[in-house]
Amino acid sequence: LDFRANTSSLTNMANDQRMAGSPRQQLAKLFEESLRLTIPEELDIDPAIAPCQNPKFGDYQCNNAMGLWSKVKGKSTQFKNPQQIGQAIKANLPSSEMLDGSSIAGPGFVNVKLSGQWIAKSIQNMLMDGIETWAPKLSVKRAVVDFSSPNIAKEMHVGHLRSTIIGDTLARMLEYSNVEVLRRNHVGDWGTQFGMLIEFLFEKFPSLEVVNDQAIGDLEDMLAFYKASKLRFDSDPDFKERAQRAVVSLQAGEEKYRKAWAEICKISRTGYEKVYEHLGVELEEKGESFYNPYIPNALELLNKKGLIEESEGARVIFIEGKKIPLIVVKRDGGYNYASTDLAALWYRLNEEKAEWIIYVTDVGQREHFEMLFAAAKRAGWLPADDKTYPKASHVGFGLVLGEDGKRFRTRSTETVKLVDLLIEAKSRCKTALIERGKDKEWTGEELDKTAEAVGYGAVKYADLKNNRTTNYTFSFDQMLNDKGNTAVYLLYAHARICSIIRKSGKDIEELKKVGKIDLAHPDERVLGLHLLQFAEVVEDSCTNLLPNGLCEYLYNLSEDFTGFYTNCQVVGSAEETSRLLLCEATAVVMRKCFHLLGITPVYKI
Ligand code: ARG
Repeated sequence: LDFRANTSSLTNMANDQRMAGSPRQQLAKLFEESLRLTIPEELDIDPAIAPCQNPKFGDYQCNNAMGLWSKVKGKSTQFKNPQQIGQAIKANLPSSEMLDGSSIAGPGFVNVKLSGQWIAKSIQNMLMDGIETWAPKLSVKRAVVDFSSPNIAKEMHVGHLRSTIIGDTLARMLEYSNVEVLRRNHVGDWGTQFGMLIEFLFEKFPSLEVVNDQAIGDLEDMLAFYKASKLRFDSDPDFKERAQRAVVSLQAGEEKYRKAWAEICKISRTGYEKVYEHLGVELEEKGESFYNPYIPNALELLNKKGLIEESEGARVIFIEGKKIPLIVVKRDGGYNYASTDLAALWYRLNEEKAEWIIYVTDVGQREHFEMLFAAAKRAGWLPADDKTYPKASHVGFGLVLGEDGKRFRTRSTETVKLVDLLIEAKSRCKTALIERGKDKEWTGEELDKTAEAVGYGAVKYADLKNNRTTNYTFSFDQMLNDKGNTAVYLLYAHARICSIIRKSGKDIEELKKVGKIDLAHPDERVLGLHLLQFAEVVEDSCTNLLPNGLCEYLYNLSEDFTGFYTNCQVVGSAEETSRLLLCEATAVVMRKCFHLLGITPVYKI
């Protein structure tokens, strides 16, 4: 602090610019001041700043005049129409080095043009201080992202793959925005099916004192094992009864049963951890069993608030607008998915002190989460409105379809083995690289690493680029196309930029220190402005929980780069230094996008 106080005012100004946030945020500050001067009696108006629809009019616009007009109409002597309010907002804008003129359009929209010099300076600062300085500032400190969450002893299907990919990206975007993220794998490791599995295990391996992994084999055998035990459960009433007793023994914590349960969980876990390893996704497992001890207390709290009622022998919570209540204790006295989620929500709010709890599952579970959140609101665990924190959000996504338009399945089996899917994407990429002769240029390791980055990246990007709520069609041919909006195209575009810089023979670190960016050409300015908008796109993708916004940004960035590179000569031109720096900034922002999307960048192609 002492050090800061002693620095010259000039440095402070530079620091201010570095720490000030995205252009939209900085403009919001300027307009906030202007709005306060324009209509002092309306102090809690948030500036509504958005990029201009038509770049002819400017870069950003302030949309407050219309709304303000409806508030002061008939009361104000000063303003006769929204245009006049717009004019006043424009006139009251504090002068700032970031602005290069403003104008009024339509019923009071205030358009502003950013100064090219200011854009250039901001990009240069980012190159010096790192892209972390462009991280959006969110008001949340800690969040839970509940994602992937497959069910023990059952198939981990493409729905879980979607959850894993989308959840990981959301976690990465929040982490970049300096939110502490608890990445939670809410695996289904509890419930009555375990009685059946344990009993079947004992029956099949009676001599085994301690159950070990040899008893079942791997996850695939596990699925067969599950099916066989289910068949037995459905057809033999004796077995069924023993299975039901086994659940009680398990829940009572009897050692032999706990051990068998733990073993079954372990086999499944090794199976799905392979998928995480391939995808480079980190998760901390806190399964349903973890929250089981917290259920009685959570239900008691809800009961004291008078929320829990008796209905047809079950204990339920009625939710306004829903015909069927949320069942929290089944007729047989057992707990269910909802009881566990209530306890988990309580735990996350009170023990983990999370301000934002995000659940990533298919849209089929929307109803469940709506009821869960509504119950929590009734209990006062969550605020009634969705604007204040703590907040809970359900991130729903659509189905994965095959090219035949039906639910995605592979040819050979009825279900898709997720790891095989990833391996196939990689091997197709490898073949394509070999066809381009890369096996002669690169080491085997390089070839393998690149194929993996492109293959896995393609699977992730194909999923993320769509609005998650829609169904999406899984097609290797589409996602591995090197033209169009695919990871392959984008990764190659990045590699090409890197090669432009390499081939220039210039030391880019040196250029960063001594060089200056100048955005004289219109295509340079378009690219520069787009680079600067990175932070606000990440911010929007975080607040709307929609990663496709970031994909769209990345794709447009590479298009803008193409526009620039087609029309502006880089190497050997008079503007070489400035343009190389612009290339470098584009590569840096692209890499950050890849990172946030969980994609490994490639540097040569
Ligand atoms: N295991 C569930 C499923 O496979 C997803 C769990 C989602 N998280 C939660 N807290 N309910 O459908």
